[in-house]
Amino acid sequence: MNLSDAIRNRRTIRRYKQKPVGDKLLLDLIDSARFAPSASNMQQLRYIVIRTPETVEKVFFQTGWGGSVKPKRSPEWLKDAPLAFIAVLAPAESVKNFKHIYADAGAAIQNILLKAVELGLGTCWIGSFKEDVNSILALGSDTAVMYLVAVGYPDESPVQEDIGSNDSTKYYLDDKDVIHVPKFKPEEITVWK
Ligand SMILES: Cc1cc2nc3c(=O)[nH]c(=O)nc-3n(C[C@H](O)[C@H](O)[C@H](O)COP(=O)(O)O)c2cc1C
Repeated sequence: MNLSDAIRNRRTIRRYKQKPVGDKLLLDLIDSARFAPSASNMQQLRYIVIRTPETVEKVFFQTGWGGSVKPKRSPEWLKDAPLAFIAVLAPAESVKNFKHIYADAGAAIQNILLKAVELGLGTCWIGSFKEDVNSILALGSDTAVMYLVAVGYPDESPVQEDIGSNDSTKYYLDDKDVIHVPKFKPEEITVWK
């Protein structure tokens, strides 16, 4: 798959096959994250690969899914939940005071999401999770979990659709149980000077 196809076809996945993701593939995702740009090349992000079933289960129950397509796309444990997560960490001090840390995390996570497409994996970038994740992962208060990325083999095929500036951006399920993700057309979001 070429990069343009991966960029276009990557969709957030909220239903996963119950097939574990091998460590080699998970390491490939981290390997792609480390090549992302970072402000002043400080590389402050760290990662925890969570794939031990007991820990995945604990973390899974802290996560929030698909606000616009509830309850149908709230995965169920042992049915269609992800079997791995990557926790993206940063020093708590940086999350408070370093304005570029969110950009660093975004760049690294996007690399993970795109690499996952190449590997045939599905992902969900998760910003909605409870604070207990810190203690589940035995992290001190000096470390912040910025985001979680759910990883697994996809068991759904969401589609993208082009929209105009007056259309709703809300993603939705159609009557065939397919998620549609509206994206503005380039001319709606670009000014040329
Ligand atoms: C910063 C951020 C946080 C997100 N948090 C969640 C989340 O907690 N739960 C969820 O189901 N999706 C989450 N998403 C996924 C978005 O809902 C999704 O990217 C958006 O609907 C567009 O769909 P697409 O990724 O298929 O293009 C998050 C995405 C981003 C960038």
